[in-house]
Amino acid sequence: MISSSSETHSTEVTMSTEILRNNHSLISKRHFWKLFCSLSPDFKIKPEYQPVIYSIFRYFLQLPDFNAFGIIKNTPSLDKGLLVYGDYGVGKSTLFDAIHKVGRLIVTHTQNTQLWFPSISTIHMLTRYYEAQNNPGSNFKLEHYFHGKLYLDDLGKEEKAYNREELIGKVLFERHRRKRKTFVTTNENPSAIAARYGNHIGDRLPEMFNIIKWEGKSWRE
Ligand SMILES: Nc1ncnc2c1ncn2[C@@H]1O[C@H](COP(=O)(O)OP(=O)(O)OP(=O)(O)O)[C@@H](O)[C@H]1O
Ligand SMILES: [Mg+2]
Repeated sequence: MISSSSETHSTEVTMSTEILRNNHSLISKRHFWKLFCSLSPDFKIKPEYQPVIYSIFRYFLQLPDFNAFGIIKNTPSLDKGLLVYGDYGVGKSTLFDAIHKVGRLIVTHTQNTQLWFPSISTIHMLTRYYEAQNNPGSNFKLEHYFHGKLYLDDLGKEEKAYNREELIGKVLFERHRRKRKTFVTTNENPSAIAARYGNHIGDRLPEMFNIIKWEGKSWRE
């Protein structure tokens, strides 16, 4: 098992962001890995999870052969987002949170947005939506989530808004229409996603996402 803890040095974070400053070229594997290890020292990579995790790293590094492990279930493309579905507790949310931390550090020290994406769970989005209904001063607008990149965690775990409206289905539909990159982690497979949000969403999934299945034992055991 590979552990990222071996390279924990905050000075390396500073150095790496320093090198990246004012540099809009692609982030190298080496810089990414240094920052990743520094920010998530306890992140471990089980051998059986390497193909999934490395493919996701390669995607964010924008390597044209990011699907070298052949794990993408549909036609791979760097222009699509990522839909990662599968077993409970394998580390989907932890992985995206760790990449999110790297992206946030890079974007705050440089102008480079390659690894930057806003992140929200579907349940939290519903909570914010409800809060906004009762608070006219709220700055929450569902439309904000139709633009830019977005990571949506726990797709399918949320309830329908007021028991009738599929808010997240609407977000997915609008983001597909605008060709925006979306990253999704979920326990629901594509058929279940189609069943829940409708075939119009199911039909759009392969166009919108590189689809990855992540199976394995839960870290929670
Ligand atoms: N790479 C990792 N190294 C060490 N521990 C990990 C790793 N990934 C996840 N864990 C641990 O396992 C727990 C479950 O991980 P996580 O919540 O990311 O799984 P998940 O796949 O998102 O689960 P779910 O499908 O239930 O949402 C985390 O709380 C974390 O402590
Ligand atoms: Mg999760």
